[in-house]
Amino acid sequence: MPLIKLVNITKRFGKITALNDINLSVENGEYICILGPTGAGKTTLLRIIAGLLELDEGEVYIEGQLVNDVPPEDRNTVYMFQQFALFPHMDVWQNVSYTPSIKDWDNDKINYVTSEILEMVRLAERRDAYPKELSGGMQQRVALARGIASGARILLLDEPFGALDARLRVNLRSQLRALVKSQKLTTIHVTHDQEEALMTADRVVVLRNGRIEQIGDPNQIYSKPRSIFIANFVGGANFIEGNVKKVDDEGSLIEFRDDFQLRVSTPSTNVGEKVVVTVRHEDTLIRTHPVIGSNNFSCHIESRIFIGDSMVYVLKLENGITKSSKGLLSDNYVIHNIGKQRIFSFQPGKCLIFSYPQTGLLQEIEAV
Ligand SMILES: Nc1ncnc2c1ncn2[C@@H]1O[C@H](COP(=O)(O)OP(=O)(O)OP(=O)(O)O)[C@@H](O)[C@H]1O
Ligand SMILES: [Mg+2]
Repeated sequence: MPLIKLVNITKRFGKITALNDINLSVENGEYICILGPTGAGKTTLLRIIAGLLELDEGEVYIEGQLVNDVPPEDRNTVYMFQQFALFPHMDVWQNVSYTPSIKDWDNDKINYVTSEILEMVRLAERRDAYPKELSGGMQQRVALARGIASGARILLLDEPFGALDARLRVNLRSQLRALVKSQKLTTIHVTHDQEEALMTADRVVVLRNGRIEQIGDPNQIYSKPRSIFIANFVGGANFIEGNVKKVDDEGSLIEFRDDFQLRVSTPSTNVGEKVVVTVRHEDTLIRTHPVIGSNNFSCHIESRIFIGDSMVYVLKLENGITKSSKGLLSDNYVIHNIGKQRIFSFQPGKCLIFSYPQTGLLQEIEAV
């Protein structure tokens, strides 16, 4: 039996449908990330699970029990707000022991639980500090500790690292996952950061315009995106609009601007169909000579951006279209200079193919 089960959840705010027929089951101990752009409905979904918002249609089950009419405090969940708030006039110990102390626990139990949790988040030595005396990351850990100390088995975290700098986010991500896994807590973590979702989740739920667009483990979401939107939102990719010219045993031949042709390994297309081919920046190569068995296009290097461990190039093909390629900088990586003529190369097996979206391609890749 799943720990949390959402059945046909719909939530409207006036004319806005914030959630549209959501179905989701979460297993005990699972770490779920809800990933989506701003306005997708992520906070609304968490608030519905927490019982902080009433839904218009559907059912929420927790531990097999229908909880539509159960108040938030009886749902075994703790909800951490997008802008987490500590009690500023209380020190770390008081913040964390706040919920245990309003339950009818004896003092020994409150002290035991609070000190265990402070050890866990490595803040035992700062137990006397006030929130304003702590760094952002420490405050975040106090907020997490306070959530865990409530005794709830389900953590609902809304952008838990939203206010922190990039480096701290990366550190806290893995700490948080390890912490909740060791405590066997079930976690639903909302984020608009695809890297955060891929790195922390057991399963990622991609939400867009109030609908679930894909559910899968991080590898599936990254390597088998179900839509152009996800291919773009998660990881980034090149998009090539074209028409299917031929379908054979080896896949499909696609014609794009000015009679250029490329091959994709997928045969499941129809001749004449208008399609979009995607290939990830990191799945492409820049070479001085064509690569046998790959798609090869002459190009020149228009610009390049150094991003630490990799180099991203912007290339112009001879038919005028612009594409990107990303290469991990290893010892033998050749750096290409701006203006040089090169070959832009990628394997047919690295391409995904999608029907051309009814509302146009820009609508899919700009709505992020
Ligand atoms: N109380 C409300 N009244 C009216 N509309 C609302 C309310 N709360 C949310 N909405 C609308 O519902 C939609 C989903 O909002 P929600 O806050 O769930 O998005 P989100 O995915 O959490 O976005 P963000 O990443 O910006 O936090 C948005 O269009 C928003 O304007
Ligand atoms: Mg939100």
